[in-house]
Amino acid sequence: MSHSNVKRGILRYGWWSRTNHWLVAICFVLLTLSGLALFYPAFFGFTALFGGPEPTRIVHPYIGVFMTLFFLIQAVRFFTSNLFRRHDRQWIKQMPDMLNNRDDRLPPVGKNNAGQKLVYWIFLLTVPILLISGVVLWRPWIADGMPIWALRWAAMIHALAAFVAILTLVIHVYSAIWVKGSVRAMTRGRVSHAWARHHHKLWYDEVVNDRDHVDREDRLRTRTVTPTDRPKEL
Ligand code: HEM
Repeated sequence: MSHSNVKRGILRYGWWSRTNHWLVAICFVLLTLSGLALFYPAFFGFTALFGGPEPTRIVHPYIGVFMTLFFLIQAVRFFTSNLFRRHDRQWIKQMPDMLNNRDDRLPPVGKNNAGQKLVYWIFLLTVPILLISGVVLWRPWIADGMPIWALRWAAMIHALAAFVAILTLVIHVYSAIWVKGSVRAMTRGRVSHAWARHHHKLWYDEVVNDRDHVDREDRLRTRTVTPTDRPKEL
């Protein structure tokens, strides 16, 4: 699949990146529902979604292990685009512009803006904490052999990390809906040239200036002759 195409837009997320992301998202939502059901009586009704209280308790840690695996694959693939760069500092300083719909004033950013990078790092911190504290609490495999103080610490850390991760997810989903065209990037994979130029100018410049990634249609338009290439997917 080509990276940039005048008609179809620019490839932002390839097939596997999208599938991987939605697997993480589905697991995360199921974990939130089952976790809340186990955590607080007001959410007890959610146990019905998993076949009752006992199945909810059994299934919750298994979903957690799957989510961690899928998330770690995603985290490795997205690592470089989430490293903070010098221009991110200016973007953070101008966050009020973003919140007040003055995004035309924001400095140009790469594939991800500083807000998206922050979300990535919070997930990268909280997911392993959730896994480790969750494993300590895993009945009957691990928890039964653990001292009471370890169970208390694990329960507190698990709840705190879950709170931070759920809050981050709410912000993540809200921003995805807020920035029109983002959801399409994660469902269809491609974004329009105008969207990429407007929201991620440095990334856009990188993509369109990368001759290896410009496909045949683009080459015909710009009337340049280059050898047939095999563009790679992100
Ligand atoms: C459940 C609902 C979710 C929705 C609707 C959603 C939506 C989206 C959308 C639209 C994007 C593309 C943003 C863009 O490229 O501009 C995205 C990217 C991303 N999402 Fe989600 N997401 C969800 C859950 C999650 C979860 C649970 C995680 C991790 C635990 C996650 C981690 C990421 C990451 C790491 C990126 C890529 C940005 C980057 O490279 O860091 N998402 N998501």
